[in-house]
Amino acid sequence: MKEAELKTNKDVILTAKDLSKTFSNASQQQHVLKNLNLDIYRGDFTVIMGNSGSGKSTLLYALSGMDRPSLGTITYRGGEQPEEISKYSNDRLAKFRRNHCGFVFQQNYLNDSMSALDNVMVSGLLLTKDRKALAGRAKELLLKVGIGEQDWNKFPAQLSGGMQQRVAIARALAMDTDILLMDEPFGAIDAKNRTILQELLLKLWEGDGKAAKKTVLFVTHDIDEAILLSDRIVMMSASPGRVYKEIIVPFSRPRNRAELVQTAEYSAFRNRLLSLFYGDIGDKIGGDEVVL
Ligand SMILES: Nc1ncnc2c1ncn2[C@@H]1O[C@H](COP(=O)(O)OP(=O)(O)O)[C@@H](O)[C@H]1O
Ligand SMILES: [Mg+2]
Repeated sequence: MKEAELKTNKDVILTAKDLSKTFSNASQQQHVLKNLNLDIYRGDFTVIMGNSGSGKSTLLYALSGMDRPSLGTITYRGGEQPEEISKYSNDRLAKFRRNHCGFVFQQNYLNDSMSALDNVMVSGLLLTKDRKALAGRAKELLLKVGIGEQDWNKFPAQLSGGMQQRVAIARALAMDTDILLMDEPFGAIDAKNRTILQELLLKLWEGDGKAAKKTVLFVTHDIDEAILLSDRIVMMSASPGRVYKEIIVPFSRPRNRAELVQTAEYSAFRNRLLSLFYGDIGDKIGGDEVVL
């Protein structure tokens, strides 16, 4: 990879510097991340790929302040001053997450005893008791993700997996944070619905051009999902986890999947990624997990 390919004029919003994460049990230490360095750009859609166990989730948790690094720093640069969040107290870190981070996981972690609407509203209750305003905003978001009024009062168990994940996306958007962290969000969704959800996510992220784009960090094993969605693909190598390669996705937006996949440029780029997975670094990042 030529350095020039990675140049960008976007601002950095998050920096991981010499990030290491070690888990210890009684008998051994596992160095999951070691001296990892990464810049995330404001408004970028960044995909993180790598073998199972290479530390993708651990990296996401560190970048969002869900967990702390063992060594190294995480700096948030979205405000007036850089903030070294890895040094924050637990309370301050929780506040940082609330203000800046929305999460969507593979398991949607919806509250089973709450309606779809309440699931989307619940985090807002931490900040305001104005239920009417919260409900209004939650309904707007549910409509945006394709959940109609007839389903607002249903419980998660009454909704399909794809619909549950739509609710989880609405919930992640409810606090209007500047960063959205998505850890294999469509990994458990069937292929057809996955395609629909990818397109929905792209539309939401691209927005109407008026509001600033959210910074998205998205973990996936699916190479076509990575290309369709992202501006940049960060490939991790495992044991210990590091950034092995960063690749800019060279396709203009808005992207139309049906048209894009038929172009020679798409095939060439996809093949280049595949040869990285299977050739060069296949054994390091687990090419066998890449969905073809
Ligand atoms: N809380 C934890 N305690 C102990 N080990 C953990 C913990 N979280 C993750 N690990 C270990 O760290 C490694 C990387 O995990 P993870 O970040 O979930 O990888 P990935 O998301 O790439 O599959 C795994 O071997 C996992 O078992
Ligand atoms: Mg993971």
